[in-house]
Amino acid sequence: MPQHDDACTLLDEDHNQVARLFEQYKAAHDGAHQKLLARQIIQELRVHMKIEEEIFYPTFEQATGEAGLRQEGEHEHQEARELIAKLQKDPLDAKLMLELEDAILHHVNDERETMFLKARKTKSLNLVDLAVQIEARKSELTAGQPA
Ligand SMILES: [Fe+2]
Ligand SMILES: [Fe+2]
Repeated sequence: MPQHDDACTLLDEDHNQVARLFEQYKAAHDGAHQKLLARQIIQELRVHMKIEEEIFYPTFEQATGEAGLRQEGEHEHQEARELIAKLQKDPLDAKLMLELEDAILHHVNDERETMFLKARKTKSLNLVDLAVQIEARKSELTAGQPA
């Protein structure tokens, strides 16, 4: 990881990665490939949401006092988890996948335009330290899993 990476940049890389997977899912033509992509999307989102809830959101709230933004983020994660639970039962339901994609893109936009902007303006928040914690936790959570 380059030294200059900050936590928001790292989280945004996850956002971009999952956006690419949604595109691949829509372009995929066979069920086996779609199932594989659905699994990757679900896995990416689970790890990402867990890291935000464990590390980024609480640290953000502590530094900024923005409890409302954290609650809103967690609420949107919960909505995404409900869609994910349905998709696990039916990974080939393209309509459901579109619903998840819409929900995630909306949520990601909120994070970029409110939380991340605020985080970068908050001097007491060390986003480089936070990036190191996030990387470490991500390695733990993805250890032993296929890339
Ligand atoms: Fe999030
Ligand atoms: Fe996020």
